[in-house]
Amino acid sequence: MPDRVALVTGGGGGIGAAIARALAADGCSVAVADLRIEAAEEVANELERAFAVELDVTDGASVKRVTSELGEVDVLVNAAGWDELRPFVETDEDFWDKVIAINFKGALHTTRATLPGMLERRRGRIVNVASDAGRVGSSMESVYSGAKGGLIAFTKTIAREAARAGVTANVVCPGPTRTPLLEGMAEEGGEKMIDALTRAIPMRRLAEPEDIAAAVTFFASEPAAFITGQTLSVSGGLTMA
Ligand SMILES: NC(=O)c1ccc[n+]([C@@H]2O[C@H](COP(=O)([O-])OP(=O)(O)OC[C@H]3O[C@@H](n4cnc5c(N)ncnc54)[C@H](O)[C@@H]3O)[C@@H](O)[C@H]2O)c1
Repeated sequence: MPDRVALVTGGGGGIGAAIARALAADGCSVAVADLRIEAAEEVANELERAFAVELDVTDGASVKRVTSELGEVDVLVNAAGWDELRPFVETDEDFWDKVIAINFKGALHTTRATLPGMLERRRGRIVNVASDAGRVGSSMESVYSGAKGGLIAFTKTIAREAARAGVTANVVCPGPTRTPLLEGMAEEGGEKMIDALTRAIPMRRLAEPEDIAAAVTFFASEPAAFITGQTLSVSGGLTMA
């Protein structure tokens, strides 16, 4: 089988970079896509079969341009995401729009641009990185939790619509993971929250980005062909069922 082409959004970030590395190790040719092109280039330069692309998932035209340049995309991983810890009563509509545009609508843009080709070729894998916040809620992350919950429901529906073409769609929900996103939240006074979370995790440690990448590459693999519409938490046992 020829190399599979994988598009990883947020590929310059903590989890996205680990996913790009793992997919490259699995033999994919990886487009490391990020708003921050320098970060994407740094990741792509480490890898043999990878290249960096500048992409804003909130901008449909940017997504269309990138995906048409790529041609066939066999594996789509939506890992771009963003949040800031705020009580809901201190948020406003501009903040809601930003959180929803990156964490939910971004995956709509990339899926809309790549799924038709997958359906036509009758092969493809979509793996969306949501969050346990989208399954069980998370204080100070109300809008993000809603966007990630929406992403989970969206993925299940895509899984139903694409099943007969042999295209799968699944969700990986990281628990608290050691990345710049989480470290940024800690700087805003969330240090105590991170300590409390670590104590609450049965395995007593935060996830590493590689822990999340392992689940993503499994869903993206050829042998996972009969697994679709599933949501898998990777959280050291923080959330179960
Ligand atoms: N770190 C955690 O604890 C945690 C927990 C649950 C879920 N997640 C999710 O995992 C995913 C990766 O998060 P991370 O922790 O690696 O964060 P990160 O901040 O390290 O990486 C996110 C990446 O997304 C990119 N990005 C942001 N907006 C974008 C846009 N509009 N277009 C393209 N790229 C954009 C950023 O530049 C960054 O490189 C996110 O979807 C996040 O919501 C993270």
